[in-house]
Amino acid sequence: MRETVDHDGPSEPHWDSTLGVWVGSRARADDSFVVPSPLWLFGYGSLCWKADVPYEEQFVGFIQGYERKFFQASMDHRGTPASPGRVVTLVKHAHPASVPLSEAEGLVHGVAYRIPDERVEEVLDALDYREKGGYSRLLLDVTEWCADGKEGGRRVTALAYCGNETNPAYDAFDDESDEGLQQAAHRIFSSTGPSGPNREYLYRLGDFLEAIKVHDRHVAELVRRVRLLEGKNDEPCRGA
Ligand code: BEZ
Repeated sequence: MRETVDHDGPSEPHWDSTLGVWVGSRARADDSFVVPSPLWLFGYGSLCWKADVPYEEQFVGFIQGYERKFFQASMDHRGTPASPGRVVTLVKHAHPASVPLSEAEGLVHGVAYRIPDERVEEVLDALDYREKGGYSRLLLDVTEWCADGKEGGRRVTALAYCGNETNPAYDAFDDESDEGLQQAAHRIFSSTGPSGPNREYLYRLGDFLEAIKVHDRHVAELVRRVRLLEGKNDEPCRGA
């Protein structure tokens, strides 16, 4: 259901903490948000391995100044309200002001898709609805990435969906601590939602990063821990 209607008409968008989604609304878009033309979409989660948007062109690229973290609770895709999963969001990369951004770490790799002009409205509509679990629209500069580690030629401004720190599903953990990582791994291991097992989402992201020869410590450590849990519990679930 896309909209909650009461006797007086559509209700104000509100966060339903039981369902873990925005009700009567979509992903948060600022009124001043201007949709770029052409529209490029940058995916750093499931869009890395499942291109389920129509597109005319795509490339592997990266953004700068952010880190990808499994800090967003998922109650409508990779978990349920009773067993929320974890999916990725973007967190600003903290780096010393004295270090130029280009020399700092803080790269997030993903895939940029150019959406056909005539499909933009339909794609945004579907994505805004799908990302109703606390995400907002963000415009980012994406640079093409080559598997040999060199930058490619293309640079585009692209739309990404980001669950910022103030969204109700934001659920950070201390990913420098064994306890934080292990609890997150347990959650990912044991959660499944309408879009499938949470661990499939993690493994496929790990496979994508491996294929483009990028080491992401946060993702790699969660993959390692969830695979160990899977081994102990003898319930294999491999990414394709
Ligand atoms: C992503 O991979 O970033 C993504 C996936 C589905 C909808 C929007 C973004």
